[in-house]
Amino acid sequence: MQSFEYYAPTEIIFGKGAEAQTGKAVKKWGGTRVLLVYGGGSARRSGLLERIQKELDDENIFWEELGGVQPNPRLSLAEEGAKKALKIQADFILAVGGGSAIDTAKGIAHGAANPELDLWDIWTEKVELKKSIPVGVVLTISAAGSEMSDSAVLTNEKIGRKKGLSTEFNRVKFAVMNPELTYTLPKYQVTCGIVDIMMHTLDRYFTHSKGNEMTDEIAQGLLSTVIRNGKKAFENQEDYQAMSELMWCGSLSHNGITGLGAEKDFAPHKISHELSAKYDVAHGASLSAVWEAWARYVYMEEPERFAKYARTVWDIREEDPVKAACQGIQATVDYFRSIHMPVSIGELEIGVRPVEELEDMARRATGNDTFTVAKFKELHEKDVLEILKNANH
Ligand code: NZQ
Ligand code: ZN
Repeated sequence: MQSFEYYAPTEIIFGKGAEAQTGKAVKKWGGTRVLLVYGGGSARRSGLLERIQKELDDENIFWEELGGVQPNPRLSLAEEGAKKALKIQADFILAVGGGSAIDTAKGIAHGAANPELDLWDIWTEKVELKKSIPVGVVLTISAAGSEMSDSAVLTNEKIGRKKGLSTEFNRVKFAVMNPELTYTLPKYQVTCGIVDIMMHTLDRYFTHSKGNEMTDEIAQGLLSTVIRNGKKAFENQEDYQAMSELMWCGSLSHNGITGLGAEKDFAPHKISHELSAKYDVAHGASLSAVWEAWARYVYMEEPERFAKYARTVWDIREEDPVKAACQGIQATVDYFRSIHMPVSIGELEIGVRPVEELEDMARRATGNDTFTVAKFKELHEKDVLEILKNANH
C-alpha cells in the first residue's frame, strides 16, 4: 500500500425530502449572500428551484440566480458567474443540479475569490489557487461525483479544451441528496451516470500498486452494487432503493476512497474528455465509447489485475488470467450494451470519424506528445491514436 493522505470533508444530507434542509445547511456553513447556479431548466421545471429559493428566504438568506449551465460546462459562464458573485458580494455559491452546475459553481467560487487572477490560468495551474468561496450542492443526478470530489471540469470553448482541476478547494461544504429528485432524469442521463460511476472506480482500480486489500474490496463492492442497481434503475427509475444506491455510489466512487493507497490512472477519462471537447458528447457516453478499446490495448500490462476484476465483480470462473481478463472486458461491454450505452465512437450520435480528427484528439490529449496519459500503461500520442482508431467503428 502506498502512503496517502485522505480528507473528504463534505457533509452529506441524504434521503427523501432532504432538500428541505438546504437553507439551514447554507446558514450553518456561513452563507448569507448566495449565488444560486443551475442548468438548462430541469430544476425550474420540476419546481425544485422554487423550493430551494423559498428555503433560502425562510432563513433570511439573500440570493440571486445564474441559470443556463450546459452539460460539458463552459469556462465563459463560470467567468460571468464570478463577476456576478463579486457584484452581489456573494459569500456562498449553491449549485442545484449535476456535475455541470456543480463544476461551474466551483469555477465561480475560485474566480470570485481571486478576481485579480485569470480563471483559465488557475485551471491550467499556471497560477496557484490559494483561496476560494464555500460551495454547497443540491444534487439532481447520480453521475459525476462532483458533490464529494476534489475535482472540477470546465471546457474552454475558445481553444476547444476540456480540463479538470484537482484541488482541496474543490471539496464542497455540504451536499443535499434526495434520490427522488433523480426520477425526472431522461433515461439516457441515468445510464450515462451508471457508466460514469463505474468508471470513477475502474479508472482507479487498474493500477500496478499492490497490497491494497481494503481499497480493492471497497472498489469491487461498489462496482457490483452499481451494476446490480443500474439494471434495476434502467428498468424502473422510480425504484427508490435502486436510485438511492446509485446516488450514494456516485459520491463514494469519486471521493477518493475507492483508490486510496494506489496510483491513479484515469486514461479512459482523459481520452474521453477529448471527445466531449470536440463534439460535445455526454460524458458517460464518451467513456463507454472508448473503454473497450482502451482495456484491450492495455490489459496485457497485467492481465492478473483484469482477471481479479473479472472474478470478483463478474463472477468469472476461468483460471487462465489472460482468458479471464478478456471475459471480464467482454462482460463490461455487454453490460454497457444492455443499458443501451454506446460501446464505440460509431455508436455515438457523431458516428465514425475521419482519421485526421482522431489524430487531432491524440495530439491534444498528449500536448503534442510532450506528456503521457496514465500510469497502468503510459500512453504516448501514438498509443492514444491507436486506441481511438480501435474505438472508431
Ligand atoms: O441542465 P438541466 O436542464 O438541469 O438538464 C441536465 C442536463 O441536460 C439533466 N438533468 C440533471 N438533473 C436532472 C436533469 N434532468 C431532469 N431531471 C433531473 N433531476 O441532465 C443533463 C446532464 O447534467 P450534467 O450536470 O451535465 O450531468 P453530470 O452530473 O453527468 O455532469 C457531467 C459533467 O461533469 C463532469 C463531466 O465531464 C461533465 O462535464 N465531471 C465532473 C467530475 C468532477 N467534478 O469530479 C468528474 C467526472 O469524471 C466528470 O468529468
Ligand atoms: Zn467521470
